[in-house]
Amino acid sequence: MTEHKKVRLRAFENASSQRHVPEADRYLYKAPIAKHRLAIIGTGTIGQEHMRVASLLGRAQIHGIFDLESHSMDMAATEFSRYNKNTLVRYDSIEALCADEQVDAIFICTPNFTHFDVLNQVIHTGKPIFLEKPMATSLADAKAIVEMSERYSNIIQIGLQYRYKAQYVEAFHEALARKTLGEIKTISVSEYRPPFLDKVKQWNKFNEFSGGTLVEKCCHYFDLINLMAQSRPQRVFASGGQAVNFTDFERDGKKSDIDDHSFVIIDYENGVRANFTLNMFCADFDEEMIVSGEHGRLIAAEKSDFQHQQPTKTSLTIELGETGASRKQDLGYSSIIESSGHHGSTFYEHAAFIDELEGKDVHSATAQQGLWAIVVASAAQASIRTGEAINIKAFLTEHDLIATLSE
Ligand SMILES: NC(=O)c1ccc[n+]([C@@H]2O[C@H](COP(=O)([O-])OP(=O)(O)OC[C@H]3O[C@@H](n4cnc5c(N)ncnc54)[C@H](O)[C@@H]3O)[C@@H](O)[C@H]2O)c1
Repeated sequence: MTEHKKVRLRAFENASSQRHVPEADRYLYKAPIAKHRLAIIGTGTIGQEHMRVASLLGRAQIHGIFDLESHSMDMAATEFSRYNKNTLVRYDSIEALCADEQVDAIFICTPNFTHFDVLNQVIHTGKPIFLEKPMATSLADAKAIVEMSERYSNIIQIGLQYRYKAQYVEAFHEALARKTLGEIKTISVSEYRPPFLDKVKQWNKFNEFSGGTLVEKCCHYFDLINLMAQSRPQRVFASGGQAVNFTDFERDGKKSDIDDHSFVIIDYENGVRANFTLNMFCADFDEEMIVSGEHGRLIAAEKSDFQHQQPTKTSLTIELGETGASRKQDLGYSSIIESSGHHGSTFYEHAAFIDELEGKDVHSATAQQGLWAIVVASAAQASIRTGEAINIKAFLTEHDLIATLSE
């Protein structure tokens, strides 16, 4: 979790009854100084979310943007002007963005299949880089990114921000720091949700461009499971397919081929057993992690009722029977932060990026962790294709990953 020097009172600072307070008299409401200038490559859904959270946090300003589609840049600039007075530089190429000496850090928010190429275009700048998840669509590119990040003299942070969701911050604290459950034995994660949303050129409807559903979306959950298991995966078995979504969807003569449901089982070297369930043909969003140990279990839950436009609810339940105190807590961040995207997790991920830029220790995702998440996802996709359990040592050897993976 990031460091907070003072309590921010945004609800007051933005209130109509407080606008008359002149700048010179703003103490509680004084915005932090934006010390860093950021440039965003790819101003779609998540690029705009990073622009929003950067503005909300206020420790960095969005200096410039580039997108291949001028429509995406127009929309992002219009949206930005609603909450930020700064003028945006609009670059006409990645080279122009890289050549701007005023830029302190670069965010890569383009579709999955472009990450490796875009990273290769910006790496010569030597600047701190934020790279959205999944870092690549193939294990070969992900391996090359880990090797690049280890040679790089600056930060490369991967966009696996679910670890900053309130329910997981608390779950990790209970299970790993307080050891409330004793030794962890099983981890069970599920996501029930609506189909993938529309995207520019619909890249997320094709395995070729997304890396496959388990890589594209579920790398978030495999990262969480890896972190909770605190061990290396040993064996992965999965079943899944495309049952309902986009079965009649075509673009440029190509049929959508992405999975919309799956069951994945992961055995870890330390004996922890985990499973992950995905179902993407639901009306609402329901995410859950259940961790069981020698002394009891915890349930970290997030539920969104889109149909009734209810606020998302997150909670942590601890059930310890006779071994300790059981409880259920509703959790949440300040609603201004929660509504900025991904229930506040992107805000805290962004804060961690700025902290790291300023030399502080953070728990944001490294390229190694990004690769481990993709290893589990890719092994699960291989298991779905072959119907066989995947031995991870053999899988890593086959993909020449043994020497690259150290964590
Ligand atoms: N961390 C998260 O929770 C999260 C959430 C959503 C998306 N993402 C990731 O963010 C990335 C973008 O997803 P999105 O939902 O914003 O997609 P999107 O389709 O809404 O936006 C992508 C934008 O990138 C632009 N683009 C494509 N190729 C480009 C290039 N070479 N150079 C510059 N711009 C380019 C497109 O024109 C588009 O405007 C993906 O990797 C996705 O997996 C992460």
